[in-house]
Amino acid sequence: MAILKIARMGHPILKRISDPVTDPTASEIHRLINDMIDTLADIGGAGLAAPQVHVPLRVVIFHVPGARIAAEEGGDPRQAVSVPLTALINPEITPLSDEMADGLEACLSVPGLAGTVPRHTRIRYRALAPDGQVIEREAHGFHARVVQHECDHLDGVLYPMRMRDMTSLGFIEELRHFENKEAQD
Ligand code: NI
Repeated sequence: MAILKIARMGHPILKRISDPVTDPTASEIHRLINDMIDTLADIGGAGLAAPQVHVPLRVVIFHVPGARIAAEEGGDPRQAVSVPLTALINPEITPLSDEMADGLEACLSVPGLAGTVPRHTRIRYRALAPDGQVIEREAHGFHARVVQHECDHLDGVLYPMRMRDMTSLGFIEELRHFENKEAQD
């Protein structure tokens, strides 16, 4: 088990285009993915991309808890089906429509901050799994957002670069504080 150090905005590794993985079944790739899983479990968050742990390879991991899906789509959180922890190697995203939606995003490489980011609402993604099998899924809502956010890291893009309105960027603590205040008013 290894908990890896997270690169923060300003580190050059977050700006470069990461390299494709030649053999997804290689032991060093499996070690990388296991260390990324340990790191994400330790820090918390929906996903992590290899460049964020200083490895310039096209690998991301993510998961979407059922409660998050229920919050978005309604329904009983206990019944909601989560998207289990998934590792994507050399992922490719195809938008399924031109429709975009705004949503609040945060990033382990931009600690403490959050901002509103437009993302495609429906996508298809295709990648290799660590066993070399092809993963192909359609995703919408938060699931689609997380995959777009993580895959952006592989092309040197951080979420603030996608924002249309920088006035929505703020510290999470302040955003929560004033969101609660507004809810009380
Ligand atoms: Ni991120």
